[in-house]
Formats: sequence, structure tokens, C-alpha cells
Amino acid sequence: MDKIVIEGGVPLSGEITISGAKNSAIKLMAVCLLTDEPLELTNMPKLRDTRSMGELLAELGVAVDVGQDSTMQLHARTIASTTAPYDLVRKMRASFNVLGPLLARCHQAKVSLPGGCAIGARPVDLHLDALKALGAEIELSEGYVLAKAKGGLKGADITFPFISVGATEHTMLAAVLAKGETVLNNAAREPEIIDLADCLNAMGAKITGAGRSEMRIVGVSKLNGISYAVVPDRIEAGTYALAAATVGGSVRLKNVRSEHLGALWPLIAKAGTKVTMDENSVLVERFGTPILPVDMETQAYPGFPTDLQAQFMAMVSLADGVSIIRENIFENRFMHCPELVRMGANITVTGREAIVRGVKGLKGAQVMATDLRASASLVAAGLAAVGTTEVLRVYHLDRGFEKIDEKLGNCGARIKRVSE
Ligand code: EPZ
Repeated sequence: MDKIVIEGGVPLSGEITISGAKNSAIKLMAVCLLTDEPLELTNMPKLRDTRSMGELLAELGVAVDVGQDSTMQLHARTIASTTAPYDLVRKMRASFNVLGPLLARCHQAKVSLPGGCAIGARPVDLHLDALKALGAEIELSEGYVLAKAKGGLKGADITFPFISVGATEHTMLAAVLAKGETVLNNAAREPEIIDLADCLNAMGAKITGAGRSEMRIVGVSKLNGISYAVVPDRIEAGTYALAAATVGGSVRLKNVRSEHLGALWPLIAKAGTKVTMDENSVLVERFGTPILPVDMETQAYPGFPTDLQAQFMAMVSLADGVSIIRENIFENRFMHCPELVRMGANITVTGREAIVRGVKGLKGAQVMATDLRASASLVAAGLAAVGTTEVLRVYHLDRGFEKIDEKLGNCGARIKRVSE
């Protein structure tokens, strides 16, 4: 199994081009199930998760063609199977989102329940309640969701009890081909939701209000094939910005939509890093000045993203004072703390709060994490640490960060991937 080996203590200097957003790309891939015409996605990141989604779509009968140049062609001329087996769904939770499109197009589906994961239980009750509201009959049997919609799905007025990115996207993917109008209240407002709506609208869907709490979807009978560019990955951009803030130096991030990280920039600046934005890029700089402590709590968009919480913690673990970090989205997303502590950080976790007492320096160690964002925080910590850090279980990083070693290496980091 591969590992990432880092010789820390070198400030970063250079440019990093941000890839397409993983969390948008995998939902956009599911869109292909809604039309018998070809869908081309450009600015696609090459990741383990997009590969897993491709494998599942191929199993359902989709012709999947991955190009050399960040493009992917998907063509679901016919649906060969409406069963998404456990072996493929368990690799990546978001693949559960094929249920809605299969129901919408084929009026039936059998999709494995995704199960829990390292960052929390992550049930799918909101997804299933919304599909039921759209008229689906749902049964759970032997770890599978068996769903039917005789005569097709019908528009409905749905209020989510709390904000869920996945449930909002899943309902959109089902409601676009339903008969009549669907109103989503308390919908998630993430940029990935807007990306999905933009893609579907370009195919002929009628979605208004994406990016607001109330979204309206007037069902259409057919969607057309198109070519669509995936939005840049705000979490990848935020990760490299925080890495630069942690290690110091100067990094220009290119292909960034800086407005998608509105909650991050003021906090990075408060921590003592200079951030300069222009149209498509962001320059992040810290030269020798101390990192200042900053409190932070995660929230649904436009709040601070939970997917940057671990990386933010790596930064303030080196701050000149105490920071309090609160995780409001997932109940178990502090697994990076004991690993950071092994590198010399001083962190105490109580329930959903972590008290981070800044230390003067971190020391390289062998570390591993149980999810991809946590792994990224260990890479950032390793870049700032004295000595050698080995980040094990690199497959987590491969799920969501394209060429992380190459991108950081181009900025002068002494980082390499080693196969064992
Ligand atoms: C998406 O997960 C992202 N994943 C996550 O990124 C991200 O952390 C999360 O949104 C929050 O921004 C993808 O887009 C593939 P939720 P999702 O539904 O949709 C609970 C990464 O590292 N909930 O908004 O699964 C749930 O347990 C990943 O790239 C229910 O209780 O998140 C959580 O506590 C990790 N019942 C909260 O809601 C449901 O039916 C928010 O989850 C659905 C969710």
C-alpha cells in the first residue's frame, strides 16, 4: 500500500491549479441516468471516487469513457440493470444517489443501503422520506432499498427537517422528471447544489432557486445530452490555502471561485495569513509572522465547511494561543486529533468541541487517518513539522485529492509517494 513521505519545514512557494470538485462531479455523473443522450463532463477530477462512480454506472449499463484531458463521456442509452449492489455502493456513500434517477427513469430500483462511515452514522432517512413524498413505495430488505413508482414520480412539497446536501441533491435528481411541481424547503445551498441545478437546467430541466433555501422544480418529460464543466473544488482550494497558512510561504491558487470560500478567508486572515484575490485566483502568503489563534465552528453553507475543519485544526495547532473548534455537522469528525497529538499538538476533545492549545512546533511521525479530509490535515501538519512524517492509508487521499504530492511538490514541498 502506498504512503506519503514528507520532510517538513520547507515554506511553500509556487502555483497550484485546482481541479474540478469531487463532490459535484460524482452527483453530475449520476445525471447521465436521466437521459438516453450522451453527457460530457469537462474539468473532471481524476479520483478514486469518480472511478468508483464510473464502475457503478457501468454496472447499470452506462457507457463510461474517461478521456486523457479531464473529460468524461457518459451515455445511458438504455439502463441494463436497476440494481446497485452493495460491493459498489459501500466503496462510496454518494453512489446511493443513483436511486432517485433510476426511479425517475425506470420507475423502479434496488440500491444497497450505504451503511455508516468513519465520520458518523450518516443515515439516509431524509433521502428516503423525500422519495416517498414524490410517490415512491419503499421497502427495506436485506440491506437494500427496494423502490417502486408505478406510473412515475409526482411533484410534492417537501420540507427537510434539517439541512442535508445529499438529500437535497438526491431529491433534485428524482424530481426533475416527476410530473408536476416540487418545492424543496430548507434545501442545502452549497455551490455543488447550484452546479447540479445548472447542469440539469442546461439539459432542459426547470429548476429555480438553487442556492436558496426554497427551490422549485417543475418536472419535464425529457432531458437532453450536453457538455458541462464541473465547478472548481472549493475544498481542495481551501485545503491548499490552509496548508500554505500552516507552513508559511506563498502559494497562488488558480482556477478558484473565491466567493465559494467566503467563510474561510476572514478566518485565515485573522490567523495572520495574507489573502489576495483576483478574478480566478487567490494568493495566500505568510512570511515568518506567527499564526494567531482563531475559534471556528462548522456550519452548512455559507458557513465554515466541515470538510475543512481538520485542515483548519492543523493550522491553529501551531498558533500562539488557544483556539476552540466546534464540529456541528458530523458527530464523529475529530479522528485526526489523536494523530495530530502524536505529532506534538496539544488538543483536548470534549463532545463536539476541540480545545487546541497552540504549540511552538510539530514533530514528524508515522500517522494515518480514517477519512480523506483528515488525511489532508496530516499532510499539512507534516509539511510544517520538523523531521519526517509518513502518512499511511493514502487511499483516503486518493478518493478526493488529485495528484496532491505532485501539486505540493511543485511548490517546493519535499513530499513523495512511496509504494510498499
Ligand atoms: C456531503 O455529504 C459531502 N459528501 C460531505 O463531504 C460533506 O462533509 C457534507 O455534504 C456536508 O457538507 C458529498 O458530497 C459526496 P449531509 P452528505 O447529508 O450529503 C445527517 C467529503 O469529505 N443526515 O449534508 O452525506 C448526516 O449524518 C465528504 O468529501 C441524516 O441524519 O452530508 C450529517 O450529520 C465527507 N439523514 C448531516 O445530516 C439523512 O438522510 C449532514 O449530512 C442525511 C443526512
